[in-house]
Amino acid sequence: MTIAIRFEDVGKRFVVQHQRPFLARELLRSVLQRPSHRQEFWALRNVSFSIEAGESVAILGTNGSGKSTTLALIAQTTPPTEGTITVNGRLGPLLELGAGFHPDLSGYENIYLNASLLGLTRRQVDALLGSIVEYSGIGDFIDAPIQTYSTGMKARLGFAVVAHIDPDILLLDEVLSVGDGQFAQKCEATIRGFQKAGKTLCFVSHNPSQVLALCQRAIWLHGGRVQAIGPAAEVCAGYQRFLDGGALA
Ligand SMILES: Nc1ncnc2c1ncn2[C@@H]1O[C@H](COP(=O)(O)OP(=O)(O)O)[C@@H](O)[C@H]1O
Ligand SMILES: [Mg+2]
Repeated sequence: MTIAIRFEDVGKRFVVQHQRPFLARELLRSVLQRPSHRQEFWALRNVSFSIEAGESVAILGTNGSGKSTTLALIAQTTPPTEGTITVNGRLGPLLELGAGFHPDLSGYENIYLNASLLGLTRRQVDALLGSIVEYSGIGDFIDAPIQTYSTGMKARLGFAVVAHIDPDILLLDEVLSVGDGQFAQKCEATIRGFQKAGKTLCFVSHNPSQVLALCQRAIWLHGGRVQAIGPAAEVCAGYQRFLDGGALA
């Protein structure tokens, strides 16, 4: 058994600034010697789980439960405040939309930018470019700046890039929820191809039916803690009961 991802007692603390930094206010504060209004906030606490290589595991939970933070920690775009994270394998992260894209650059340019962040050389991207553009289905908009793209178009481009870098571990944050049905089907077919090839999938969703369609196991996060972990059907059923107004176990 090879572990693809392991979290041991992981916590992530953010410092929330309740007022926008404002020069005059900061100046006044330093004169009056008052501390600025800061609050520490644990987005995740005491989170432990293991995902084996070749497994497909969903992370589900309501808004703000810590799903995206968990994926960002796996992708190492942010460090944990406490605990240990182990990742074995090449990552293909498709994190929150827009991550790894620059709004002023065109779709083309963003393919290069994003793919280079994922470790591809310019030459490798040159070779894959046509296929990435075609997969995305963006059409002529590929020359337009990303800031003119809809959310679904950004998801298309982002997924097209990760689908081409051949990762061992695919990390997906809510992508299937924003694209149109046609693209979601294409993504699902690609994901099933990854699964057949023995790759690891870690899939964030708040949609139980997508989780059941793609994953064997699920982790339910609530308030930054693991509420349940186990077979996808059981965890989804518990989560659905909670959504329908049931109490937390
Ligand atoms: N950079 C940040 N600074 C401060 N708080 C953050 C930051 N990122 C996330 N959070 C907070 O952490 C909690 C979990 O966020 P997130 O992981 O994005 O939730 P989810 O993806 O499950 O909706 C939320 O309350 C969110 O406001
Ligand atoms: Mg999120």
